Amino acid sequence: MRRPLTVGNWKMNGSHDSINELLDGILAGLGAVTKAEVVVCVPYVYLQQVSEKLKGTVLAWGAQNVNDNDAGAYTGEISGSMLKDFNCRYVIVGHSERRTMYGESDGDVAARFKVAQAYGFVPILCVGELLEDHERGMTNEVVARQLDAIIGDAGINAIGDCVIAYEPVWAIGTGRVATPEQAQEVHAMIRSRLAHLNPDVATQVRILYGGSMKPDNAGDLIRMNDIDGGLIGGASLKAEDFLGICMAAN
Ligand code: 13P
Repeated sequence: MRRPLTVGNWKMNGSHDSINELLDGILAGLGAVTKAEVVVCVPYVYLQQVSEKLKGTVLAWGAQNVNDNDAGAYTGEISGSMLKDFNCRYVIVGHSERRTMYGESDGDVAARFKVAQAYGFVPILCVGELLEDHERGMTNEVVARQLDAIIGDAGINAIGDCVIAYEPVWAIGTGRVATPEQAQEVHAMIRSRLAHLNPDVATQVRILYGGSMKPDNAGDLIRMNDIDGGLIGGASLKAEDFLGICMAAN
């Protein structure tokens, strides 16, 4: 039985004050979320604040990326050992915004994935096709390529210790959510691809959906067989909306 999971990806949003308010709001409602696991992935500069505030609570935290080098001349980057200082449990890798805006290749994502695991974090590996891929019927090919890049480098067993997030790029921040059937089809493809290599890994790995997930569509998505929760952008910035999705996962 896979434990449902809801992850908030705050992206480049927040301030000291707004984060305090948001976390107070989420913590106040989390008592009702008894089954689902809940995580927030926050901007690096707020990790200190978030880790102090969430220590000892059921709400886990993580970062939105990690560099694949341990230290050195990598201006603007953050290493796994730095994240370790803030007790992160999760690290997002390969978000489509990193791939499309900052040129991270499948190989870069694989390197970051491996470093995240080497430091003991659970990578949240994002995969997903662009609108043009979607329209050309290339969704499965693109997602399989992104997944295979990680399996080829880190090995199939490494997938057992990660979370996969399927985020169709055309659904991110657009309000155009994939239908539960569309998302389920891709999730099932991912799981069956993994099952060919290791059935236990396929059964165990949690696959989240991301892309315009809101309280009013989360239930129908998460109800699907292979959708184990959500990776949430915009709606994770409002306690009420985020909690609504957590309750749907629950
Ligand atoms: P939205 O929920 O804002 O569409 O963002 C999804 C996402 O990219 C989460 O990583």
